[in-house]
Amino acid sequence: MRDISRVGVLGCGQMGSGIAQAAAVAGYPTVARDVETGLLAKGERSIQQSLDKLVEKGKLAAADRDAALGRLTFTVDLEDLAGCDLIIEAVTESLELKSGLWRALDPLCPPRTIFASNTSSLSIGVMAAAAGRPDRFVGLHFFNPVPLMPLVEVVRALTTSRETFETAEAFARRLGKEPITAQDRPGFVVNRLLVPYLLDAARARESGLASTADIDRGMQLGCGHPMGPLALLDFVGLDTVMRIAEIMFDEFREPRFAPPPLLRRMVTAGLHGRKSGRGFYDYATNPPTPIDLGL
Ligand code: 3HC
Repeated sequence: MRDISRVGVLGCGQMGSGIAQAAAVAGYPTVARDVETGLLAKGERSIQQSLDKLVEKGKLAAADRDAALGRLTFTVDLEDLAGCDLIIEAVTESLELKSGLWRALDPLCPPRTIFASNTSSLSIGVMAAAAGRPDRFVGLHFFNPVPLMPLVEVVRALTTSRETFETAEAFARRLGKEPITAQDRPGFVVNRLLVPYLLDAARARESGLASTADIDRGMQLGCGHPMGPLALLDFVGLDTVMRIAEIMFDEFREPRFAPPPLLRRMVTAGLHGRKSGRGFYDYATNPPTPIDLGL
């Protein structure tokens, strides 16, 4: 197992900023990189708000929040990740984009650096090959909201070395997370089961089975889920779920992974969920109110 003393995070969106926060709170000097300063500022703000919330709730000491913020740096330059022992990528679900980043980083980083992807559906093996370090590549799949969700899926490609895998598992534990092991198949464990459920909820809404509020209340009150499936779709992002579903459908060719027309129409219309302010619910109101989908 290798020692990790400095962590890099590619992408400072919802997942990337959460991962950077978790690493900094766990004591790692952490460099977060995105393509423009506006995105970095947004990520930094959400880290600050999340840390403040944890302090408010008595889950984190104010001094630990300040120390975590002191361990974080933000950059647009890939070169600034060169000194990291572990680099975790959390950019948009595009194999071309991710592989391009790995190809650019490989010559900048020493051989000891482990590359990890937070992909939820793309092949770790394909990225490991593109990165040129097939044995030092692993999947580290976090869950949203990263500061609160205790699970990390650690994904072994055929080529991932035992040392890399064990280092990734130990890193997840050091972040206070519980790792589970998953094979390198689209969706791993959680999304393989969760995504068809979310798509079914959208189909149920599309077919007029019940209202948005009743579908969500049904699963919350009937099954004890913290969020109903349509609220969860909004939370994860309709565009993100659609992309994951397309990748899973491409791989498995099973109708249950095919995004339903309602989801496609909503994504095309810019109803991406919480991040765009509207999805199945309108987030301009408090509490959010179901959108009229004309169904
Ligand atoms: N940072 C810090 N604290 C946060 C936070 C954040 N980002 N978000 C919420 N909180 C805190 C709140 O302050 C609150 O604290 P309290 O309990 O002490 O009052 C607590 O968390 C609960 O928040 P809320 O009252 O706003 O809302 P909920 O009670 O609904 O809890 C939730 C929020 C933890 C997100 C809960 O609804 C939940 O667990 N939802 C399901 C999330 C889920 O399924 N995630 C997985 C998605 S799939 C995925 O990520 C994989 C990807 O590949 C698609």
